[in-house]
Amino acid sequence: MAIMVSFLCLVLMFSLVSIGDSLSLNYYEKTCPHVDFIVAKAVKEATSKDKTVPAALLRMHFHDCFIRGCDASVLLNSKGKNQAEKDGPPNISLHAFYVIDNAKKAVEASCPGVVSCADILALAARDAVFLSGGPGWDVPKGRKDGRTSKASESIQLPAPTFNISQLKQSFSQRGLSMEDLVALSGGHTLGFSHCSSFRNRIHNFDAKHDVDPSMNPSFAAKLKSICPLKNQPKNAGTTMDPSPTTFDNTYYKLILQGKSLFSSDQALLTTPKTKNLVSEFATSKDAFYKAFVKSMIKMSNINGGQEIRKDCRVVN
Ligand code: HEM
Ligand SMILES: *[C@@H]1O[C@H](CO)[C@@H](O)[C@H](O)[C@H]1NC(C)=O
Ligand SMILES: *[C@@H]1O[C@H](CO)[C@@H](O)[C@H](O)[C@H]1NC(C)=O
Repeated sequence: MAIMVSFLCLVLMFSLVSIGDSLSLNYYEKTCPHVDFIVAKAVKEATSKDKTVPAALLRMHFHDCFIRGCDASVLLNSKGKNQAEKDGPPNISLHAFYVIDNAKKAVEASCPGVVSCADILALAARDAVFLSGGPGWDVPKGRKDGRTSKASESIQLPAPTFNISQLKQSFSQRGLSMEDLVALSGGHTLGFSHCSSFRNRIHNFDAKHDVDPSMNPSFAAKLKSICPLKNQPKNAGTTMDPSPTTFDNTYYKLILQGKSLFSSDQALLTTPKTKNLVSEFATSKDAFYKAFVKSMIKMSNINGGQEIRKDCRVVN
């Protein structure tokens, strides 16, 4: 009996520590076999009408996973006095929530009450990358949706002003390595940034420099003209790279030329290990794709959540 009990304890302990690995590729094989296809269809339809959708979905999944794990907390609406994550300060440019709503509706029509919003978002992020010409992969599933979303927690996201030690800490707190940091930052091959996210680098950078000296001067001049110190147009900004709807390795080539937007992008050159990875990914799209897929699966595994939400915007 004692042996039996201690064996059970061991099994329980093991399953607790390995919770992040409890996802599986065939999780909905019996209960919702076509879930991948249904979500992909919704993402494809939305993308054909609005080219900014894939970038939005990829970033949404990243924000979700970095706060309380990948539990769809980013999708919850504010309610009563509680301000949700999506209404917190770094929510700037989070959009296309309707795409997840449409995917959820289509999934519920086929298999009601079984697929989590967190899984739908993880699938949609994969589809976003693939539809943009990036790599494809099988998404492990079985996430649960959380019941909590707090605007005050969105400050736990890494900021674009972060240096390499701050980035390292933010990623390692979530079980992610420096290789994951470099590979996942490659998400910045898609989408758009507002001036506020790189302003620190082009005006009053520090006591000695107006502009970040690690920035290519003509690139900095271009950004200054888009984002003047005074009378900046509302919503002004620039695309993350010159091909913002194509998932490629241009991002890494630009970092090496001093043409990345954020301090956090440029920071990848400040340790030998991360710099070598930037050079490797700039040279080889295949190496980048391989590393990106591996790190996305790792990031999408950060666990949290308890229920299968009926409506992705509200707890059951
Ligand atoms: C390493 C830490 C990271 C920082 C500091 C960071 C910061 C930012 C910032 C400030 C923006 C621009 C927001 C705006 O001005 O509108 C942005 C955009 C974006 N980020 Fe990140 N990010 C990081 C990691 C990631 C990761 C891991 C991914 C996904 C794998 C990602 C995907 C994106 C995408 C796709 C956009 C464009 C969004 C759009 O166009 O709607 N980022 N990021
Ligand atoms: C972002 O948060 C602000 C409040 O901090 C809110 O007014 C705004 O509507 C939010 N934007 C989105 C897209 O949710
Ligand atoms: C990064 O920034 C933090 C906070 O400002 C600072 O304490 C630290 O020394 C910086 N590290 C590097 C490598 O610059």
